[in-house]
Amino acid sequence: MIFPVHLSYEFYRRNIMKKIVVFTGAGMSAESGISTFRDSGGLWDQYRIEDVATPEGWRKNPELVLEFYNQRRRQLLEVTPNEGHAGLAELEANFDVEIVTQNVDNLHERAGSSHVLHLHGELMKVRSTGSGAEVFDVESSHPDVKLGDKCPKGYQLRPHIVWFGEAVPEFEHAANLVSNADMLVIIGTSMQVYPAAGLVNYVKHGTPVWLIDPNVVSNLPAGVRLIAKGASEGVAELKTLLMKR
Ligand code: OAD
Repeated sequence: MIFPVHLSYEFYRRNIMKKIVVFTGAGMSAESGISTFRDSGGLWDQYRIEDVATPEGWRKNPELVLEFYNQRRRQLLEVTPNEGHAGLAELEANFDVEIVTQNVDNLHERAGSSHVLHLHGELMKVRSTGSGAEVFDVESSHPDVKLGDKCPKGYQLRPHIVWFGEAVPEFEHAANLVSNADMLVIIGTSMQVYPAAGLVNYVKHGTPVWLIDPNVVSNLPAGVRLIAKGASEGVAELKTLLMKR
């Protein structure tokens, strides 16, 4: 991309390029080999949300919760971004792309996306259960977190995940990005979980909204343009459509 030398890239990105917000869910990472939650055989067929993804579950059986996320973390270290992730990163050559993801994996970052907002937390981070909730990186060489693993101030560490019933601290930031978008692209989410699913209501009137999902997704506003394909093929098709414009 060539831009006038007196403009910084950041100025160019923020003020001149069209802004695309891409809102992703578990389907984005399905082709990398990570299970979705609500498709048949998905994670919520195998585990009870109450047991592993709520503050009550944590209080009742923290070992089970830690092991659930240890498994997810170990799996994440074995998989790689798919062509869909890579295609979104490539879009940055021509657009100001902000990824807002419900996914706790780091596959968007590993594919090269520069601006990724995690609404539901991050698997490769943990935080203190003490006040202040300090956040720490998990080293990929030691991915397991155990009961008894504590922060420097002596508090147990917990997964840095937004559980059901907890606040979504990044929601306002995400809503602000969506309300300033020239285009919203939704990929691989069943739009069942709020407040995330409500983000679509923040687009400015008349903003094009695209959906990439191989299955029927309800709960969408009228006028959504559908690419009924998986993430890799769907992102490739979207890129072709955008380049023609
Ligand atoms: P879901 O499992 O609810 O939905 C996955 C979506 O991905 C569905 O619409 C599928 O049709 C679609 N899908 C499946 N394969 C795909 C593919 N190859 N390409 C594109 N799409 C595909 O997952 P989410 O909507 O992300 O939260 O779930 C939202 C939240 O619920 C998650 O962040 C998680 C979960 O409980 C927490 O754990 C807090």
